[in-house]
Amino acid sequence: MGKDVIIACDFDSAEKTFAFLDKFTGRKPFVKIGMELYYAEGPSIVREIKKRGHKIFLDLKLHDIPNTVKKSMAVLSRLDVDMTNLHAAGTGRMMEAAIEGLTRPDGTRPILIAVTQLTSTDEETMKRDLLINEPIGEVVMHYASVAKGAGLDGVVCSPLEAGAVHDRCGKDFVTVTPGVRFADGDIGDQKRVMTPAEAKRIGSDYIVVGRPITAAEDPVAAYERCCAEFIG
Ligand code: C5P
Repeated sequence: MGKDVIIACDFDSAEKTFAFLDKFTGRKPFVKIGMELYYAEGPSIVREIKKRGHKIFLDLKLHDIPNTVKKSMAVLSRLDVDMTNLHAAGTGRMMEAAIEGLTRPDGTRPILIAVTQLTSTDEETMKRDLLINEPIGEVVMHYASVAKGAGLDGVVCSPLEAGAVHDRCGKDFVTVTPGVRFADGDIGDQKRVMTPAEAKRIGSDYIVVGRPITAAEDPVAAYERCCAEFIG
C-alpha cells in the first residue's frame, strides 16, 4: 500500500475549497472530503475535485442496516472515489454488505476502511453511554479484527495505535492516521499527536493532515514538508 499524505479539506464551501486547491500547481495532493463539505455541496464537489486530478478519500462514516449501506456504497463507488469509510460498530454483516455495494462490475473498488471507536470517545464514556466494559484498546483491536474478517482494507486510528493494529491484523492492513502535527506547530484541539516523521517510523500508511496545512501561511510549503518527513 503506497504511503501518502491526505489533506483534510475541512471547508464549508466549494469556493473556499477551490481557492485552497488552486495553490497547488505542481503535485496534486490526495484530499479528504468530510461531511461538512459534502453536505454543503453534494456529489458535484467530488466530481469536480476528481476532474482536477486529485485522489479522494470520502469520509462519510456510514452506519446503517446492511442493505442501506450496500446501496449507498454502490452510489459512492460510481463517484469514483479512491477511499471511503464506515463505522465498524455497524457489525461484520454491514461491512460485508458495504464491500458488495462498493465493488464495481469490473471487480475494482475504492479502498474501504473502518472507524473503530472515535478518538472523541474515551473509556469512561464508552462504559457509561455504550455499556462496553472492555478496555478501549481491546475494543479498538477487536473492531479492527472484525473489519479485517469482513474483507475491509484497514482502519482509521491514532498514530499511537498503528503499530498494534499492524501486529494484530498484518502489515498490509492499512492504517490511516489523523492527529498529525509538526514538531514546532500548534496542537489545537487534538490531544494525542505525532509528527509526520514519527508517524512514518511507527508504520502509518496514510496520514490525514488538516490545519497544519490548510491554516499555514504557505500551504504548499507545509504540504511539501509533510511529504518530505512522511514519505521521504
Ligand atoms: O486539522 P486536523 O489536522 O486536526 O484535521 C484532522 C482531520 O482528521 C479532521 O478532518 C478530523 O475530523 C479528522 N479526524 C480526526 N480524528 C479522528 C478521525 C478523524 O482528527 N479520530
